[in-house]
Amino acid sequence: MTDAPRPLIIDTDPGQDDAVALLVALASPEFEVLGITTVAGNVPLARTQVNARKVCELAGRTDVPVFAGCSRPMVRALRTAEEVHGVTGLDGPDLPEPTMALEPRHAVDWLVDTLMAAADASVTICPVGPLTNIAMALVKQPAIAAKIREVVLMGGGFFEGGNTTPAAEFNIYVDPHAAHVVFSSGVPLTMIPLDATHSALMSRAWMADLGAVDTQVARATVAMLEFYERFDMERYGTEGGPLHDPCTIVYLLRPDLFETRFCHVAVEIASELTMGMTVVDWWDATGNEPNCTVARRIDADGLYDVIGTCLKRYPL
Ligand code: BDR
Ligand code: CA
Repeated sequence: MTDAPRPLIIDTDPGQDDAVALLVALASPEFEVLGITTVAGNVPLARTQVNARKVCELAGRTDVPVFAGCSRPMVRALRTAEEVHGVTGLDGPDLPEPTMALEPRHAVDWLVDTLMAAADASVTICPVGPLTNIAMALVKQPAIAAKIREVVLMGGGFFEGGNTTPAAEFNIYVDPHAAHVVFSSGVPLTMIPLDATHSALMSRAWMADLGAVDTQVARATVAMLEFYERFDMERYGTEGGPLHDPCTIVYLLRPDLFETRFCHVAVEIASELTMGMTVVDWWDATGNEPNCTVARRIDADGLYDVIGTCLKRYPL
């Protein structure tokens, strides 16, 4: 007997790697994507909500509702990342303006109502942008915590340091207060930090393999990724860039590809120097109760095999 599809909500700030995360999830029968909530991050909310709908249309999945959430972090001013993702956030391919409507409800209200109507420990959430919407939902209705099966997020970095400041990764740096709320909420939490995503870079052979596929999805994905990876290739001097956000989806499909440890993680929200740092107690130096499964390394071949297989499922 096959398992019923796992109810999943993706909270995102597309972003080319966010777009690939959406495409992988929407191509996987293992998931029932209940909705996509968008947040300000890589680019402002006015663009991320449009980009999420562009990706749904590219995937032929206009049945999946897309909601706009918070337009700025809880406390700090918004910081965006156009230098990585381009002005639109999805620079690279020429995707048409979406025709599917944005849902009229605020993402935080929809998250609260959807989770409150769900069975206990039933809904999985993958946040792949700043954690503002998820934290705001937890603040608005703390009882949603019991409805969440697990949160698997892309964010943070410890051994690898940060990519936005020396200490902090982008998603956590943009809204450290939201990250603090989520990490101290008690929900079952897995974090895929830079330590893991930087251990699995896109290879030239993988890009060429995808480039040989004659579908709209493959063409658009290659155009997105070629634009997106140039920033990291230049910065790190590597032959390929990391593909952060899809790692959350692949973790749910194939946890065996990830090397992890369950430990205590706290988020820095006081010092400006280390703001947004994810302090991972890898060696149990404090004796603090573990609150997060932390990924340290990924089997790169396995990861890109899953992503490629999912992307090739699109018929057009
Ligand atoms: C994260 O920041 C964004 O630029 C990417 O979409 C990813 O979610 C990586 O630090
Ligand atoms: Ca993202």
